[in-house]
Amino acid sequence: MIPLHLISVIPFLLSPHISAQLTPSPTYTPPTASSGLASSTSTPNTQWSNILGNSLYFYDAQRSGKLNEGTYGNRVEWRNDSALQDGSDWNLDLTGGWYDAGDYIKATFPLTFTLFALAWGALTHGEGFDQAQQTAYLDGTLRWGYDWLIKAHPSDDVLFVQVGSGDVDNAYWGGDENIPGPRPAYPINSSFPGTDAWSSAAAAFALGSVLYTPSISYNVTSSSSAPSSIGNATYSASLLSQAKTLYNVANSTSNKTTYYDSLGGSVSAYASSNWADDFTLSSLALAIATNESTYYADAYNNYVSYAISGQQQVWNWDSAIPAIYVLFAEIAHARPGLAAGAGLDRNLTGWQNETEKLFDSIIDGSFKRSYLTRGGLLYFEGDSDEASLNPATAIAMLMFKYAPIASSQDKTERYNNFAQGQLNYMLGKNPMNAVYLVGSHPNSPQNPHSAPASGGNNIKEIRTSPPTEAYVIYGAMVGGPLSDDRFWDWRDDWVQNEVALDYNAMIPTLAAMQILNQTSDPPYVSIQAGTYSIPSEQPCDAALPCEGGGLSKGAKAGIAIGVIVGVLLILAAIWYWKRKQIGAWWRKGYRR
Ligand SMILES: *[C@@H]1O[C@H](CO)[C@@H](O)[C@H](O)[C@H]1NC(C)=O
Ligand SMILES: *[C@@H]1O[C@H](CO)[C@@H](O)[C@H](O)[C@H]1NC(C)=O
Ligand SMILES: *[C@@H]1O[C@H](CO)[C@@H](O)[C@H](O)[C@H]1NC(C)=O
Ligand SMILES: *[C@@H]1O[C@H](CO)[C@@H](O)[C@H](O)[C@H]1NC(C)=O
Ligand SMILES: *[C@@H]1O[C@H](CO)[C@@H](O)[C@H](O)[C@H]1NC(C)=O
Ligand SMILES: *[C@@H]1O[C@H](CO)[C@@H](O)[C@H](O)[C@H]1NC(C)=O
Ligand SMILES: *[C@@H]1O[C@H](CO)[C@@H](O)[C@H](O)[C@H]1NC(C)=O
Ligand SMILES: *[C@@H]1O[C@H](CO)[C@@H](O)[C@H](O)[C@H]1NC(C)=O
Ligand SMILES: *[C@@H]1O[C@H](CO)[C@@H](O)[C@H](O)[C@H]1NC(C)=O
Ligand SMILES: *[C@@H]1O[C@H](CO)[C@@H](O)[C@H](O)[C@H]1NC(C)=O
Repeated sequence: MIPLHLISVIPFLLSPHISAQLTPSPTYTPPTASSGLASSTSTPNTQWSNILGNSLYFYDAQRSGKLNEGTYGNRVEWRNDSALQDGSDWNLDLTGGWYDAGDYIKATFPLTFTLFALAWGALTHGEGFDQAQQTAYLDGTLRWGYDWLIKAHPSDDVLFVQVGSGDVDNAYWGGDENIPGPRPAYPINSSFPGTDAWSSAAAAFALGSVLYTPSISYNVTSSSSAPSSIGNATYSASLLSQAKTLYNVANSTSNKTTYYDSLGGSVSAYASSNWADDFTLSSLALAIATNESTYYADAYNNYVSYAISGQQQVWNWDSAIPAIYVLFAEIAHARPGLAAGAGLDRNLTGWQNETEKLFDSIIDGSFKRSYLTRGGLLYFEGDSDEASLNPATAIAMLMFKYAPIASSQDKTERYNNFAQGQLNYMLGKNPMNAVYLVGSHPNSPQNPHSAPASGGNNIKEIRTSPPTEAYVIYGAMVGGPLSDDRFWDWRDDWVQNEVALDYNAMIPTLAAMQILNQTSDPPYVSIQAGTYSIPSEQPCDAALPCEGGGLSKGAKAGIAIGVIVGVLLILAAIWYWKRKQIGAWWRKGYRR
């Protein structure tokens, strides 16, 4: 059920004190979900243009601060200005930016991953944004993120990595008018370093600066191009200066460490497991942005010193590894001079080999902990357990991006087909007949785990209160089904139903790629409304654990080991306390 007021065209508002930047023309408002049943006869395909438009609209729904301050005003009429004191504990203005997921924390690390992915996708597939007439919204989205990130970086070494307290936030479920405080802001700095957070921000700023460089040439293939009108030399220069400063701090701080190791529990929501991947990615991004071989030399040295080669990792906020491989391969085409300037071989075959080893292991099932679900979803044990669609769509974007520069035509087709299968799964070709983008089709999730969209304010009754989600958070990709392909659409099940900045980060690019490739309708167009039924039994996941069955093999093994260790410890303790008696008993027995 779509509230009627959402069908009307939302008035287009321009904030008075923001000049320039791109003005959307025509303006775009997501159509109702029933539009997902209509086959498109247009070029570009209307369905793919809508997926692109909606997936950017999601970022508008996540906005924090004064909503009218962006380029084109606020499109999401059910959102209100919020968190207007952010930063006041440091006498700084840290208002703005985005809420990270279904709640009200602002988290910098997944934000920088998101900006990187959006900018990188647009850099090679920008013409798809142009064709869908979404370039102005891309500009507005990126600027909303980058402008906040600039505020969060008030001096060279200081970067705010989170605003809002996890404890306060976890205890609140409700609208955006009464978000509880305090909302402390957490910085890293030279005394409390965070190589991962500094580097990831540097990488995001660097690729943003490339994207905004007027008439940039980043010719990975003869058809790669940035969006035609986004270039702005002033903005590009300001992003580049941010990137250089952050990179220099990360590179020159001798104590290389993660921000979580420096700050501890308060920032545990996104505790990254390593900084070397982010650091290496940032050297590569800076190499492209500056066209200076020193950065390329750093990237290559880091790649060697931190043993980045041959790793089987997903691409997500916690792992940049696959993106590093693909970026090296892209640079071998687009900027061969960078390697030469550093006295290195551009080594196209080497980077192809590196990338293809990873992709082939994923496709042929030799990747250490991945498999295809029975319905065909790429599933990584562990990484997919708390949001299955994110790692699958991330690999799809990388495979599509890389396919045209693969070492053979055969591999090109292989990667395109595999990626297409993952995208199709997300868009309806799955055993549930579910369409995992909110608001795209009648079979889209009706109950995304988003406090503002839900209209609920009873944290004990998230699933049922209110019975119908108040607002449609168009374009949000939910966490996704469990490893048995089943999906419950329960609002309290954050594993399956939460929405997040990083989950959505690949969708605009994936849609742009389909538009450029003139792909016909997404699979959901031929799926009848209502051919989708919620399983009758209980789900079993981290949000709604069930007895026994919900535990992974690893968890079961962990428990078994825990029990054995526990028993041994008890025996050891008994022996220690009673060692005299035991010794006496032993001696008695021995003598007997
Ligand atoms: C370029 O970006 C700057 C910085 O955001 C802005 O002030 C200026 O108006 C933009 N220029 C155009 C032509 O959009
Ligand atoms: C925004 O404010 C309006 C008016 O008070 C309210 O109805 C709406 O639910 C609020 N939106 C959110 C996301 O809380
Ligand atoms: C550096 O960061 C730590 C940890 O967030 C903070 O407690 C400290 O006040 C900061 N130092 C400065 C000078 O801002
Ligand atoms: C890059 O591609 C653009 C457009 O396809 C073309 O005009 C330009 O000459 C190319 N540049 C290089 C260095 O190949
Ligand atoms: C980064 O640090 C290394 C080691 O100190 C140095 O060799 C390199 O030149 C630095 N990179 C840049 C771009 O300054
Ligand atoms: C490096 O940073 C970590 C995390 O902040 C800290 O625990 C450690 O003591 C620091 N090491 C040195 C040598 O300063
Ligand atoms: C990068 O530098 C090389 C020379 O090392 C030059 O040929 C190339 O045109 C430059 N590319 C850009 C985009 O500035
Ligand atoms: C090329 O890259 C591969 C990594 O795939 C590496 O093993 C090899 O040493 C590199 N060769 C050169 C000449 O840099
Ligand atoms: C990569 O190179 C190694 C060593 O040369 C070779 O055995 C392997 O088959 C190559 N892998 C791919 C995917 O090309
Ligand atoms: C482009 O079309 C080809 C041929 O239909 C297909 O194999 C491939 O998956 C498509 N690529 C993208 C990026 O959509």
